[in-house]
Amino acid sequence: MIRDNYGRTISYLRLSITDRCNLNCFYCRPCKVTSFIPHNNILTYEDMYHLLETAAKMDVQKVRLTGGEPFARRDILYFLSRIKSGIPGMDLRLTTNATLIAGKIKALKDVGIEALNISLDTLDRDKYQKITGRDFLKNVLTSIERCLEHGIRVKINVVALKGVNDDELENFVGLALSKPVDVRFIEFMPIGQKTLWRKQHFWPGDAIVSAAEKVTRLEPLSHEGKNHGPARIYALPEGAGRLGIISPLSNHFCETCNRLRITADGRLRTCLFSDRDYRLLPLIRSSKISPERLKTVLERAGLNKPMGNELAARDRGPEKSLCQRVMSSIGG
Ligand code: 5AD
Repeated sequence: MIRDNYGRTISYLRLSITDRCNLNCFYCRPCKVTSFIPHNNILTYEDMYHLLETAAKMDVQKVRLTGGEPFARRDILYFLSRIKSGIPGMDLRLTTNATLIAGKIKALKDVGIEALNISLDTLDRDKYQKITGRDFLKNVLTSIERCLEHGIRVKINVVALKGVNDDELENFVGLALSKPVDVRFIEFMPIGQKTLWRKQHFWPGDAIVSAAEKVTRLEPLSHEGKNHGPARIYALPEGAGRLGIISPLSNHFCETCNRLRITADGRLRTCLFSDRDYRLLPLIRSSKISPERLKTVLERAGLNKPMGNELAARDRGPEKSLCQRVMSSIGG
């Protein structure tokens, strides 16, 4: 089991399987990235499978595949079925922009994917194009419908951007009222070297709740229990879905953080807000020689997992980014 110095246990891995993405959301990848991680430095599916097997033996129970865009990586369905069959107890999830899944939804269900987190920051076609650089809104909305038809649960992640999508709150609440989906607003975080985060774009969680309360009744669901996620969830008695607020800045959840992140080049990050990383790739590839080394590094790194809120409170220089690496290569 991986434990840290604050008594937190690690049971959740976020694994970025590629830093490539077919969208260019300004808040995620502010400077158009033209250089991606070179192919040789990317973990192969074999490497990642080995890592997950090791993590499972250390009591990691949940893994979320992220990107970039995970469906931009070739043969992802093969990898999903490999995990499902080889590590059956693992709770396997994905975060996607849902622009590339149209032909794969039934196959996802057949492989045993029960739920998807879908990133969608606007319900307006022109704005979608402005935010992402592509005209894929219709495609995404259709795929959300298809997922629901196939019994795949959907959580919609909306990055809360004041001056960009705060005028759409009513529409997003409307979506959660009309469909059995969780619509979750995530506070915009200053991540990455050239972050476009500015105070005037920050739309805090409490303000979102107040605004949503003007649209419909919200019933807070209990936040108790060991394995709850970072979202404050509200049931909507007048509708089919739920509303969620994830407020890493205004109301952090560091005490209950149970996660580690692995980038596509095999760097282990113990906190979103810290650039300290541990290079796992050589260990994974050599672990046939010394299988215990990888475990030891996971344990040691886990032990030193920081409290992100303490890092965030430090003076961070003029641009105030919480870390240097861009979100598109960390995976959220
Ligand atoms: N702040 C908050 N959320 C972000 N995401 C990407 N960049 C940021 C940011 N700077 C979101 C994505 C995705 C999730 C993994 O993280 O939109 O839904």
